[in-house]
Amino acid sequence: MKTAITELFGIEHPIIQGGMHYVGFAELAAAVSNAGGLGVITGLTQRTPELLAKEIARCRDMTDKPFGVNLTFLPTLSDPPYPEYISAIKEGGVKAVETAGRSPEQYMPALKAAGIKVIHKCTSVRHSLKAEKIGCDAVSVDGFECGGHPGEDDIPNMILLPRAADELKIPFVASGGMADARSLVAALSMGAAGMNMGTRFIATKEAPVHENVKQALLKATELDTVLVMRALRNTERVLKNKGVEELIEIEREKGGSLKIDDILDQVAGVYPKVMVDGKMDAGAWSCGMVVGLINDIPTVKELIDRIMSDAESIIRQRLTGFLDGTGRSAAPARAIA
Ligand SMILES: Cc1cc2nc3c(=O)[nH]c(=O)nc-3n(C[C@H](O)[C@H](O)[C@H](O)COP(=O)(O)O)c2cc1C
Repeated sequence: MKTAITELFGIEHPIIQGGMHYVGFAELAAAVSNAGGLGVITGLTQRTPELLAKEIARCRDMTDKPFGVNLTFLPTLSDPPYPEYISAIKEGGVKAVETAGRSPEQYMPALKAAGIKVIHKCTSVRHSLKAEKIGCDAVSVDGFECGGHPGEDDIPNMILLPRAADELKIPFVASGGMADARSLVAALSMGAAGMNMGTRFIATKEAPVHENVKQALLKATELDTVLVMRALRNTERVLKNKGVEELIEIEREKGGSLKIDDILDQVAGVYPKVMVDGKMDAGAWSCGMVVGLINDIPTVKELIDRIMSDAESIIRQRLTGFLDGTGRSAAPARAIA
């Protein structure tokens, strides 16, 4: 399949793996890139720019295909040295960066001077237009369904994607709630040139996370995520667990006066406990509603091949069937898995 996104990043399939804290290591990024998508290393999971340089080199050893690095500008408790991270990306010869959180405006000159394509993750049309204006090459339009930070507007992708299509000139991928061929074809129909997946890629053989995490994703349904930190205007969609229940209880007690310090135990330092140690009740970690569509743990290549071949059948048989009349009584499109 060829779209503006496959052309932009020099990849075979219009599928991007979003940056994921403590998940987006070289193993996963390389597996996605080797399968024809765009794998992404999560920059800030590497505690220093030197460690990021090593992670990029490790990924380079595992794939000769293009891959990217995610740079997240979120309110963190530390203040990461972003210019040095960008130097590590540039010196590592990486040509794609996924930015997220705040606008990447101040870093655009450095990124563009290094010939890096920038895809900025946005949760609104106005932020997407700003990204276009400051020279981003593409945007990742992240709907309310998404795992992680959906912003504060609460607009799901059925509305957000066509709205983005109506306003943007640069290409965009659909992000949030994407799991299979149905997601991809729907996203393409609504104007996107591909899709970005987060949660779905965690439930793959290559995702370098504790087995408990993958099993929790298999078990969970679409009813098992919840929004936290709304009072801080730093809303995050996470998987429910005991730590998250405590967090919600504190939020209830504190109401509008909630401070980050009130919930540090439930939100700070949680990722290594969950992703490395498999302690599933440790606190808040991002997970999308799409968890309700995850029923297996394939290899990344099996997942991507399945998405692309099912997408072809949906387009050639199901959709064309409606047009030529042969598909009138077609059953709902089930996931093959
Ligand atoms: C465990 C996890 C960690 C994430 N960490 C980050 C991150 O560090 N930076 C970022 O920009 N997005 C992060 N995200 C968001 C993803 O890149 C992606 O935008 C999101 O998962 C898409 O929604 P989906 O989960 O419904 O596919 C994370 C998502 C998950 C599930």
